[in-house]
Amino acid sequence: MAGQIPPQFIDDLLTRVDITDVIDARVPLKKAGKNLQACCPFHNEKSPSFTVSPEKQFYHCFGCGAHGTAIGFLMEYDQMSFPESIHELAESVGMTVPTTQSLAPNPAKKNLYDLLDKVSQYYVHQLQTHPKRAEFVEYLKRRGLSDKTVEHFNIGMAPDGWDNVLKTFGGNKEAIQQLNEAGLLSSNDNGRTYDRFRNRVMFPIRDRRGRVIGFGGRVLDDSTPKYLNSPETPVFHKGHELYGLYQARKANRQLNRVVIVEGYMDVIALAEKGISNAVATLGTATTPEHLKQLQRSAPEVVFCFDGDRAGREAAWRAAENALPLLGGNHQLRFMFLPDGEDPDTLVKEQGADVFNQMVEQAKNYSDFFFESLESRLDINSMDGRARLVEIARPYLRHIPAGVYRDMFEQRLAERAQTSTSVLQKHLEKPPATQNKIKKTVQSSSGISPIRMAITILIQHPELHASVGEFDKIMALPDPGVTVLAQLLETLHQHPHLNTAALLERARDTEHGEHLKKLAIQTLKLSSEELQHELVGVVKQLQQQALKLRHELLMAKGLSQLTQEERQEIQQLGAILKR
Ligand code: GTP
Ligand code: MN
Repeated sequence: MAGQIPPQFIDDLLTRVDITDVIDARVPLKKAGKNLQACCPFHNEKSPSFTVSPEKQFYHCFGCGAHGTAIGFLMEYDQMSFPESIHELAESVGMTVPTTQSLAPNPAKKNLYDLLDKVSQYYVHQLQTHPKRAEFVEYLKRRGLSDKTVEHFNIGMAPDGWDNVLKTFGGNKEAIQQLNEAGLLSSNDNGRTYDRFRNRVMFPIRDRRGRVIGFGGRVLDDSTPKYLNSPETPVFHKGHELYGLYQARKANRQLNRVVIVEGYMDVIALAEKGISNAVATLGTATTPEHLKQLQRSAPEVVFCFDGDRAGREAAWRAAENALPLLGGNHQLRFMFLPDGEDPDTLVKEQGADVFNQMVEQAKNYSDFFFESLESRLDINSMDGRARLVEIARPYLRHIPAGVYRDMFEQRLAERAQTSTSVLQKHLEKPPATQNKIKKTVQSSSGISPIRMAITILIQHPELHASVGEFDKIMALPDPGVTVLAQLLETLHQHPHLNTAALLERARDTEHGEHLKKLAIQTLKLSSEELQHELVGVVKQLQQQALKLRHELLMAKGLSQLTQEERQEIQQLGAILKR
């Protein structure tokens, strides 16, 4: 990638930009001799070992070894791509990047971000100036929000009326087309087009870099739907985004813990009371993608659910989705609120301390897991204990092989009053997932198919375009699959990245070195064969993931399934038969 932006330009850029400004704006620095210091944003620490040298224009952490230039910092900290960080830096010092077409940020997306940002400012402005603002201001007050918090979350109002946004921003056909693409319009059967958000309190949704990507809008009374969200757009994917993550990262120099709650208002009400580390999914279950993002942001993630039946079910779902991410240095815990409360009402009635205490007392993953399973069985009978093993078995296979899974098995053996060796005998039939993936997924070459797919993709990123669906493979407990899925996802979002850009993106990550090695291996197949190989492996993995999910649902027993899960089984069954 560096080959396409003139190296001379990057040299110039790095002499014009001051790395200390770039970092200080994100992680406040303190002077220490001729260098500057902070607690490292890339790992968890109490005393600062993250050092920035103005002289060398370089940062280095003595604790975790992270290091790099201003470009590398933006890539790591803001999760920008290589070209994105170049653009960001250039813009900050008033330089223009001499680029080829493919390097410029996708212009269509850039326009959407700009538009969404303007509309967000418009909604805020309406809340300050609209003749009918009083009702909205009153509502926010009633919900206990201070001006500061309203400002912090950029809360606004969409005035009543069919075409406020349409009139303000839809000056011509092209502009209307853009509004539509940004998800800001609706249309009826007669093809009439109008504002999607009308007469609602507006919550802009930002990605982790702070760009507005969509909105949630709440009614002021109890009409329905209570909340309206932006639809999926090129820049907004519900299953990936977390409301409040940007604000949480901004408010905490270092995030040690993130609490996942259910609603926008929960995030905001908690922030109002000084609890600035809450995020919310956007009305969906917590996906593995959500969890991966959170684990990159903080070492501990606490799920907060209602104590009622629906809350317990949602928690169990989250626990299922978290299985492939267990172990390592990450902690996952579960807390339950008293029946009828949500975080918003709880902090209002009982204060932040009570909530914080409940967070401290949240259950460990394994405690929650076994308590949930055992609540459905009679663990005092042998039959119940045998059933426990049967039910737990498919779940265990979703946990990555390692110390954590071993301990999980040990605990299962204890609970079932059997020995790990007896258990192992049964856990091994059918074979552990990892072996199973290796066995079922065929590769025509000698090396492991997943490794082969990664190698092909890193050397020929353009081939990603032929790959079919891969959205489920992330759930497979194999570290190689994670790398593959991330590569595919990156290429899906940035279709024009080349090998160098992918490597730049992976530099300093745990897979960076490994990817570099794969990038220089010789592939002896023709381009057609490579494509065939890649497409085949991903297809088999996706199939494998669907099968695993099917197995897991089936193992629950029909009576334990929700309506949604029954439908899922049917759909899975149909797909798997094909
Ligand atoms: P308040 O009544 O404002 O306190 O809302 P809440 O945040 O407590 O909402 P609730 O617990 O009812 O719902 C949690 C989340 O589910 C919300 O933040 C929304 O993301 C989503 N949600 C709730 N109601 C609707 C709805 O009618 N439509 C859609 N699409 N999403 C909803
Ligand atoms: Mn609520």
